[in-house]
Amino acid sequence: MRVVYVIGTRPNFVKMAPVIAAMRARHPDGDHVIVHTGQHYDRAMSEIFFEELGVPTPDHMLEVGSGSHAVQTARTMERLEPVLIDERPDLLVVPGDVNSTLAAVLVASKLQLPVAHVESGLRSFDLTMPEEVNRIVADRFSEYLFMHSEEAGTNLRAEGIPAARMHMVGNTMIDTLVALRDRIEAADSPTRLGVEAGDYALVTLHRPALVDGPLLGETVAQLAALSRQMPVVFPVHPRTRKMMEAAGGGVEAPDLRLSEPLGYLDFLSLVAGARAVLTDSGGIQEETTYLGVPCFTLRANTERPVTVDLGTNTLLGLDPGAIASIPEALDGSPDQPPQPPPLWDGHAAERIAEVLVPAYADAGERRAVTSR
Ligand code: UD1
Repeated sequence: MRVVYVIGTRPNFVKMAPVIAAMRARHPDGDHVIVHTGQHYDRAMSEIFFEELGVPTPDHMLEVGSGSHAVQTARTMERLEPVLIDERPDLLVVPGDVNSTLAAVLVASKLQLPVAHVESGLRSFDLTMPEEVNRIVADRFSEYLFMHSEEAGTNLRAEGIPAARMHMVGNTMIDTLVALRDRIEAADSPTRLGVEAGDYALVTLHRPALVDGPLLGETVAQLAALSRQMPVVFPVHPRTRKMMEAAGGGVEAPDLRLSEPLGYLDFLSLVAGARAVLTDSGGIQEETTYLGVPCFTLRANTERPVTVDLGTNTLLGLDPGAIASIPEALDGSPDQPPQPPPLWDGHAAERIAEVLVPAYADAGERRAVTSR
């Protein structure tokens, strides 16, 4: 069995580390080939995740880097096609909804290679989000759809996708969290950053709808105001940093602490200790739900409604002014965090391997017979 895993961005590494490990454990004799597209390339956005999560060194580095959506996707397609022609895998496994995922699914489909999509069925119903387009295409052209919540199944059924392709397996991002829980606790990042556990707000923002326009300045002003009530720790994504620099003007707020992007262990240690998290990320809405930390999402919608239904996540809208409501909302938040959704239990990747390995374990023999 030869499997190619295509990964390219920070959240991809977190979602796929346990999948690659579980596939290798279940089928050690198989060829497990890792392709890193290079969509994320800074050490803090890439290498550190490979080290901390124990992802093996990629077999192929495509080094596509940054660019417009068309450039990034096209460059990935051009560089991935010869790799797949050369490797002739039995199966491709791709995670999430980033441009690397879109490109990989398109190339594989044209080469008639089956694709397994991890984190399938999420929908924001907002086609202005680049990720929404990527998700729809990935699900439409994948053979195996691995879902982490009930609404994913509802969404896929509404699109007419046959039930035989859907597999409810749970959340592989939570697998990583569960596997590294002790090391996350040992990291004790709040203390190292000089903030007290349970006392600070943690912020991440990177979506174009928020940071690529005038809302960014308003958001930073609101964060400065919030920091007068509780320390605000803000590791800044490179896209956001670039936009903040382009807008000029720093902020005068000693308790608004900006930093470079953090590695996985440091960041999750900060999430676990936060009084509140403010974000526009998808994965962080899930990690806070698992950890029972109040999350405020600065977006008009979410493709992860289960996090809102459980009460850990509050949608603030795409409205920086709503940041001012956070302290009061925290006063009213329940003491007991809810149970995480079913199958967010640290074993999702094993369930994926249980489906894929029996289906492809003798693929090498079949290939040999066909070519004879
Ligand atoms: C991408 C994904 C988004 C995901 C996010 C996680 C798409 C369409 N978007 O957004 O879904 O939530 O990753 O972080 O695929 N940059 C660097 N160094 C890096 C990577 C990026 O400086 O290592 C800068 C570049 O200026 C680049 C910008 O960040 O132009 C944006 O990077 P890009 O990969 O295009 O999108 P993200 O905003 O990271």
